[in-house]
Amino acid sequence: DTTNQSGRDNPFQLEMPVIVGLSSRIDCENEALTVNIVLGITGGIAAYKAPDLVRRLRERDAEVQIVMTASAEEFVTATALQAVSGRPVRSNLWDKEAEAAMSHIELARWADVVLVAPATAEVMARIVSGAAPDLLTTICLATEAPIALAPAMNHVMWNNPATQSNRELLEQRGIHILGPDTGSQACGETGAGRMLDPDVIAATVCGLSVGKGDGSLQGRTVVITAGPTREPIDPVRYITNRSSGKMGYAIARAAAAQGADVILVSGPVSLQPPPGMQVFQVNTAQEMFEVTHEHVRGADIFVAAAAVADYRPTEIKPQKIKKRDERMSLELVRCPDILASVAALDNPPFTVGFAAETENVEAYARAKLETKNLDMIAANRVGDDQGFDTDDNAVTVLWPNGRQEFTRTAKTDLARSLVDLIAKHFYATTGSNTEPRLTVISNLD
Ligand code: C5P
Repeated sequence: DTTNQSGRDNPFQLEMPVIVGLSSRIDCENEALTVNIVLGITGGIAAYKAPDLVRRLRERDAEVQIVMTASAEEFVTATALQAVSGRPVRSNLWDKEAEAAMSHIELARWADVVLVAPATAEVMARIVSGAAPDLLTTICLATEAPIALAPAMNHVMWNNPATQSNRELLEQRGIHILGPDTGSQACGETGAGRMLDPDVIAATVCGLSVGKGDGSLQGRTVVITAGPTREPIDPVRYITNRSSGKMGYAIARAAAAQGADVILVSGPVSLQPPPGMQVFQVNTAQEMFEVTHEHVRGADIFVAAAAVADYRPTEIKPQKIKKRDERMSLELVRCPDILASVAALDNPPFTVGFAAETENVEAYARAKLETKNLDMIAANRVGDDQGFDTDDNAVTVLWPNGRQEFTRTAKTDLARSLVDLIAKHFYATTGSNTEPRLTVISNLD
C-alpha cells in the first residue's frame, strides 16, 4: 500500500529520509526526532530474535539499517530482516553498488546509535582490538555515535577471563554493554549469556541516543572539567578521590551532540577521550586551573564537574617518605578554586558547578551558588554507592530563583537533560539568539 503515510506497514517500501531545515524554535522535549540505528547482527543463535528486535525498535520510531556478518546469515535470513526493517540489508564491505548508495563511512555518520545484537565473544574481541575486517566492525571503528552491545553466548564463554576483560575494556571506552540475561541457554545449560529481551534492548537503546540534538549549542564553546585530581605527596604517593569522570564525560558528549565546540579538561580517569572534542589531560588541581584558564576566556559556558582536591601537600618530597615514627602529619595547603576563579572573571561564561555532599545537600549547594557567584549548581548526594564511580546519578539543580529535581537515572540521560537545562538558562540569561539550528528528519511516502 504505497498510499500509507509513513510507509511503515509496507515492508518493501524504502523510506527515504529527507532533511527539512526549520528556523523556528520547537521545544525539543516534545519533538520526536527519528533515531537512526545501525543494527549489527552477528552469528549467534540469538540472531533468530533479530526480526523481533527490529520491530521493537521500529515501534519506537527508529530507522533501522541492518548490517549482518557472514556468520549471522547462518541463523537468520536477510529477506526477513529487509522485510521488517524496510531497508536493504548490508553485509559486504566490498559491495560496490551498496557502497555507492551509502558508503560505510556515511553509514557510520548516519547512525545516532550503533547497536550490535546479538554480540558474540568474537565481535567483542574484534571491537576491543580495533580490527575491522568486515562492514560491521568498520562502522564501529568509524562512528562517533554511542555504541551498545547486547552479548549473547554460552555462559562459559561469557565468564571466560578473555571475554570479561574485553567487556571491561569496552565499558571503559564508553561502550554500553546491555545484559546478558541469566537463564536457560540454547546449548541446554543454564547461566549468564542469554541475549536481553528485545523490548528491553529497544527501550534502552532509544534512550541512549543523544541523536543529533536540535543544535541548541551550535557555535557555542563549552569548557568542562571532569574527573578527580591527583596531588603528589612524594614520587610514589598522591591524594585523590573516588570521582570516575563519568558525569563530566557524559556532559561533554551531550554538549557536543548539541553542536557545541567542547573543550574537556580531564583529571586522571580510565575513560577513553570522547571523539569530536578537544581533550586535555591533567593531574593536579593547579594544572587543571591553568589549562582551564588558557581556554575559558571567550567561552560561552563553563561546567565544573571535576572533583578537584581542596588541599594539596605544601611540599612534594623529592624522595619516597620512609616510615619512622608511629605518627606523622602532612601539612596541606588550599588548592585554587577553579570554578570560583572562572565565575570571578570580568566577562565570565555561564558558569555551572557541582556540589557533591554527604549531608544538607541542598542548603550547602545553595550557599555555594551564592558564595561562588554561579549561574547554576547541580547538587548530588554522595557516599553509600551514590554519585561517585557509578553509572547513574540523581541531582537537584539550583539557580538563583529556582530549582529542578532529576531522579536517579543513567548519567548519559541525566547529562542530556542537564545540557538542555543549561542551554535554556544560558540563552535566557545572556539574551543570545534563542533559535537553535533545527533539523527534522521525516519520511517521504
Ligand atoms: O566548594 P566545593 O569543592 O564543594 O565546590 C564544588 C564545585 O567547585 C565543583 O563544581 C568543582 O568542580 C568546583 N571546584 C573547583 N576547584 C576547586 C574545588 C572545587 O573548580 N578547587
